[in-house]
Amino acid sequence: MNGKKQTTVVYPVPKEWAERAFINAQRYEAMYAASIANPEEFWREHGKRIHWFKPYNTVKNTSFEPGKVSIKWYEEGTTNVSYNCIDRHLAERGDQVATIWVGDHPKDGARSITYRELHAIVMKWANVLKSQGVRKGDVVTLYLPMIPEATYAMLACARIGAVHSAVSTICASNSLASRIADAGSKVVVTADQGLRGGHKLELKAAVDAALDKLPGVVTSVIVVKRTGAPVGMLKGRDHYYNELSDTVPEQCPPEEMKAEDPLFILFTSGSTAKPKGVVHTTGGYLVYAAMTHQYVFDYHDGDIYWCTADIGWITGHSYIVYGPLANGATTLMFEGVPTYPNVSRYWDIIDKHKVSLFYTAPTAIRSLMRSGEGAVKSYSRASLRLLGSVGEPIDPKSWEWYHRVVGDGRCPIVDTWWQTETGGILITPLPGATDLKPGSASKPFFGVKPEIVDAAGNVLDGVADGNLVIADSWPGQGRTLYRDPERFEQEYFSPYPGKYFTRDGARRDADGDYSMTGRVDDVINVSGHRIGTAEVEAALVAHASVSEAAVVGYPHEIKGQGIYAYVILIEDDAASDDLRKELVSWVRREKGPTFTIDKVQFALGLPKTSSGKIIRRILGKIAEDDFTALGDTSTLADPSVLEHLIDNRLNRN
Ligand code: PRX
Repeated sequence: MNGKKQTTVVYPVPKEWAERAFINAQRYEAMYAASIANPEEFWREHGKRIHWFKPYNTVKNTSFEPGKVSIKWYEEGTTNVSYNCIDRHLAERGDQVATIWVGDHPKDGARSITYRELHAIVMKWANVLKSQGVRKGDVVTLYLPMIPEATYAMLACARIGAVHSAVSTICASNSLASRIADAGSKVVVTADQGLRGGHKLELKAAVDAALDKLPGVVTSVIVVKRTGAPVGMLKGRDHYYNELSDTVPEQCPPEEMKAEDPLFILFTSGSTAKPKGVVHTTGGYLVYAAMTHQYVFDYHDGDIYWCTADIGWITGHSYIVYGPLANGATTLMFEGVPTYPNVSRYWDIIDKHKVSLFYTAPTAIRSLMRSGEGAVKSYSRASLRLLGSVGEPIDPKSWEWYHRVVGDGRCPIVDTWWQTETGGILITPLPGATDLKPGSASKPFFGVKPEIVDAAGNVLDGVADGNLVIADSWPGQGRTLYRDPERFEQEYFSPYPGKYFTRDGARRDADGDYSMTGRVDDVINVSGHRIGTAEVEAALVAHASVSEAAVVGYPHEIKGQGIYAYVILIEDDAASDDLRKELVSWVRREKGPTFTIDKVQFALGLPKTSSGKIIRRILGKIAEDDFTALGDTSTLADPSVLEHLIDNRLNRN
C-alpha cells in the first residue's frame, strides 16, 4: 500500500496515550516477546480473562503440518459465551447500558438496553429457539438486519449451544438458499423487513424465495417485526417472534460448552467462487475477541464504542457483539448508512451518543471525504478519542483525512488487519504503544507470528516484500471449513506447508512495521515486476481529482499483464482525455516507470460486497472484455454499477 514517499510520515504516540493506555511501548515489547517465547504460559494466563465453568489444563494443542492440521485451545475447559457476555456482568454492571441501538432515520430514534435487560431478553430468545426444536449443535441461520434482535439471537444460540450462521441481508435469496442448505439449518430467523438508508429490505420475502428452492429443509421461520408490514406467513412453518415469546418460560440457564464446541459459522463473501463456511469455536475465540477489543481500542469503562460493520460479517460478530460484551462494554449498533438522511449522519450520532471509540471501513471514509470537510466540521466530535479502520488497505490520503478532519488531529488511528478466518485482529497499531504511519497496519498483536515468504516459501528477513503467512496458531483462529476439512487444509496450509497462508501480500519496513499490499491474487506482474494493485490505487487516490480507484491486471501482449485502472472522480464531470493522461503520468511520476497505467476507465461506482470490499474478480473480467464467467453477482451492494462499467469498458476484442 505504501510507496517510500508515503510512509515517511510518522505520528508518534502522544504522551497522554503512552501514560493512560493499557499497553505502552515497553509493555508491548515485553508482552509480545513473552507471547512468542512461551505461548502456553502467555495464553494460560490470558485465558483467565473469561469465566470457565471447568478449568482448562492443556492450553495449546495445534498443528499446521500437512495431513495433520488440527487447532485446539483450552480443550478441557468448559464455558458459555452468553454467560460471559451477560450473566457475569450482572452483579457489577447490571444497570449499565450494554447496547445502544440507533435507527435508520433520526426519527426512528434510539434504544438503550442494559445488561440486566439483555439477560432477560436473551433467555426468552433462547427458550423461543428451543420451542422450535433447536438443540445443542444445531445450526440456526440468521438473516437479520441491524436491529438489536440480531444480537439477541446470536447470544441465544450461544446460550443453548446452537451454532449460528449469519447471512448478511445484502445476500439475495439465491445466496441465502445455498447458505441455508450448506449449513443444514432447520430454523431460520429473519425480520418482516429491514430498513437501510430509507429503503425497505424485503427480508421475509427473500427467505420465502430461498425456501421455495429448498422444499422440506426448514421447519421453522421465526419472524421479528421491524416495520410491521404485512408479509406472507406459511401456516405451521412461520411464526412471529412476539407470539412465540408469550408462550415460553422466562428462565434459561446457559449450556455448559466445551472450549472447542462450535460457536458460529460464517460464509465468506462473494470475492471467492464458492462460499466457504469458516467455523469458529467457543473458548479461544472469546478470549481473543475480548482481549483484542480491550487493547486495540484501549476500551475503558465509560467509553462508548461504535463499530459500523454489518452484523452479518465477522467484524460485526467479533467487534459489535462478542468482544465488547465479553468486556462489559457499551457497544453501539446503527441500522443505517453514513449518507442518510445526509452525509453528516455518522458525526451526528457520535455527538448525540458521545461515542469515544469509532471503528469503520476505508470505503466509508472515502465516500465521506468526497462530500467535503464541512459536513464533518459542523459537528463537534469532542467525545472521540480513537478511530479505527478495517476491511481493506487504507490509502495514506484517506488516512490523513480521517486523522486530520474526523479526528481533529488528536485521535490515533488503528488500522487493523485481519480476516474472517482469523476471528480477531492480528496486525494493528496499539494506540498507546505504536507510532503511526498512514497506510500501515504496523505490528503483530500478542501471540501472532507473521512471516513474509517468497513464492518458493523462503522466509525473508528484515525489510521484505512478499506473501504474508502466520507461523503459529493464536486462540481466535478459525478451526476448519464447515463440512470440508480438506479444503481448509488445502487453501490455507498447503501453499506453504506448516504455515497459515493469509493470501495477502505484505511489506515489512526497517522498523518491523507491516503494510498490506492487497490480496496476493491481485498482484500484477508487469514486465516481470510485481506490482500491488493497492499500491497503484493509493497513488491514484493521492491525486486531487480522484476519490476512489481500483486496479486490476489484464493480458498484455508485450508486458505479460497490463494495468487497468477504474477511477472515480471527485467531480464526475471532470472526466476527460487530458485528465486521463495526467493520471497516467502522475502515477508514473510517483511510483516509477513500471507503474505506467495502460487503461484508465472513469467509473461512477465499483462492484462491492456489502462489507465494502471491491470485487476485483468482476473488474478483472470487464478489463479482459470477458463476460462468460462473471460469477455470482448476487452479493453486489449495488448491481446497477455493473452495467455502467460494462458499457464503458475500454478493451473490446
Ligand atoms: O485482504 C485483506 C483485507 O480483507 C481481507 C479479509 O476480508 P474478510 O475476511 O472479509 O474480513 C474483513 C474484516 C476483517 C484480508 O485478507 N483486509 C482486512 N483488513 C485490512 C485488509 N487489508 C489491508 N488492511 C487492513 N486493515
